[in-house]
Amino acid sequence: MKTTTTGSTISRRQFLATTGAAALAAPLMVPSSVLGANGQTPPSERVVMAAVGYGGQGPWDTDELMKDPVCQMVAACDVDSSHLNRATKIINAHYDNEGCRGYHDYREVMAREDIDAVMLAVPDHWHALIAAEAAYHNKDIYGEKPLARTIAEQQAIVRAVQQSNRIWQTGSWQRSVQNFWYACEIVRNGLIGNVTHVVVGLPGGQNGGYPGFGGIPHQNHCTPPPRQLDYNFWVGPSQMVPYVECRVHGNWRWNYNTGGGQLMDWIGHHCDIAHWGLGFDRTGPSEVEVEHADFPPSHATWNTSPKYRIAAKYLSSVTGYPNDVHMTIAGTGPESYPDIKMGCKWIGTEGWVWVARGHFDSSDPHWKKHQKLPENLRKVKLYHSTNHWRNFLACVKSRKPTITPVETAHHSTIPGHLGLISMLTGRKLRWDVATEQIIDDPDAAMLMSRPYRAPWRLA
Ligand SMILES: NC(=O)c1ccc[n+]([C@@H]2O[C@H](COP(=O)([O-])OP(=O)(O)OC[C@H]3O[C@@H](n4cnc5c(N)ncnc54)[C@H](O)[C@@H]3O)[C@@H](O)[C@H]2O)c1
Repeated sequence: MKTTTTGSTISRRQFLATTGAAALAAPLMVPSSVLGANGQTPPSERVVMAAVGYGGQGPWDTDELMKDPVCQMVAACDVDSSHLNRATKIINAHYDNEGCRGYHDYREVMAREDIDAVMLAVPDHWHALIAAEAAYHNKDIYGEKPLARTIAEQQAIVRAVQQSNRIWQTGSWQRSVQNFWYACEIVRNGLIGNVTHVVVGLPGGQNGGYPGFGGIPHQNHCTPPPRQLDYNFWVGPSQMVPYVECRVHGNWRWNYNTGGGQLMDWIGHHCDIAHWGLGFDRTGPSEVEVEHADFPPSHATWNTSPKYRIAAKYLSSVTGYPNDVHMTIAGTGPESYPDIKMGCKWIGTEGWVWVARGHFDSSDPHWKKHQKLPENLRKVKLYHSTNHWRNFLACVKSRKPTITPVETAHHSTIPGHLGLISMLTGRKLRWDVATEQIIDDPDAAMLMSRPYRAPWRLA
C-alpha cells in the first residue's frame, strides 16, 4: 500500500503493473504467496517495508514485523556489511526468495518509491537524521526509543512526522503488554486515589543490565575499525573519536557522544508507562532537579553516569491533574538505589500500584488476581494493543494513530533529557511545557542540542 502525504491511499498496483511484469513473465520463479494465492495477503494489501539498522534490536523488530503477512520486507540497510549480510540472508530465508536488497546508505532506501514504511533500529545519535529523511520521503515509521539523543532532535522528528502526516510507532512496546495496560487503567480510573508521587526505576551502572552487551567488555585501547564497518558513516553527526571496539555496537549507549547511558536507554520504557497511567502523554514536568549523579571522567571510554537520581515536579496548573505530582527517576540495583525497584510505581492517596516486566503488585491484593478491570470500573478505557508491531501495521493501513505516536514518545523522554541536563549542569531546571524551553538558564538550554559534524545537518 502506498499513501500520499495527506494520508489518502493510492494504489500500488500501478507500480506492480510495471515491476511485477517481469516476475509474471517468469512465473516459475515466483512463490505463489507473492502473488496473493492460497489465501495469502495480496500484494496490493501489503505494507512494503525496509529494515534500517540490524544490530541487537533490529533483528527482533524485523522478525516481529515479518510474522504479520501484511508486512513485506524488501530492503535492509546497515553500515556494517556483516550485519547487513545477516539481515538480507534472514529476510530472504523468511520469504524463501531473493527479494530483499541490501543498502549501505539509508538515503537510497528512503528514495525508493515502492517502500511504504521503515523500521529504524539504529543507535540514538542517528535517530533524528534517518527518521526525518524517512518522513520527508513519506515513509511510515516504526522507530526505536528513546525518540532521539537530544530534545532538539526530538522536536525535529515530531515536526517532520506531523508535517508529512506519517504514521509513527515508537519501540516502547511495554504499552502493548497486558500487565502494563492493566496497571495504567487502574491508575487512570482513580482506584488508588490521586497520584502524589511516581517512582520510575531504571537500571544503574553501565552495561550492568546486560552482561556482555555487544559481547565486548569495557576496555580503552584504540584499534583500526574492522573492514566490514564504515566507521566514518557509523559516527555520522557525532564527534569523530578514535575507534574503540567497546564504544560501538551495543555499547555506544555508555558514551555521551552517541548515547545517554542507562537513564536515556530506559526512560522511554518506564517513564512512558508512568505518563500513560497519569494521562500525561501530552504534558510534562515544570521542574527537574538532579538529586545525585556520579560521573566517570569525561574522557573515559564509557563516560555516562552509572548512579543517578532525579526529581521532577508536574504542576497541577500545567497538567490539569487535581494536584502536583512528584516523580523520582533513579537507577536501581545494589550499587545505585536498592530501595527503588525497576519499573513504575504510582503512589496515590488511597493506595499504590507497581508494574515491571513480568511483574505486577498493588496495595489492594484483589487486583493481583486479575488482568483486566471489570467494565463498570473502566470509565477511562485506554488504547488496547496486544502486539506492538501488528498495531503499527494495522495503523499504516487504517491511517489511525498507533498506541505510541511520535508526540507520546517525545513527552515520555523529556523528563530523562531534562534530568540529564540537570545532572550535567548540577542545577535545578525550570521547563516551559508549552513552548518546550528551559527557562532563564541559557547554558542549560544550549544542551538541548549538540553540534553536528559536517557534512551532516538536521533540517
Ligand atoms: N525497544 C526495545 O526494547 C529496545 C531494546 C534494545 C534497543 N533498542 C533501541 O534500538 C536502537 C538500536 O539499538 P541496538 O542495541 O540494536 O544497537 P546496535 O549497535 O546493536 O545496532 C545498531 C545497528 O545500526 C547500524 N547503524 C549504525 N548507524 C547506521 C546508519 N547510519 N545506517 C544504517 N545502519 C546503521 C549498526 O551498524 C548496527 O548494526 C536504539 O535506539 C536502542 O535504544 C530498543
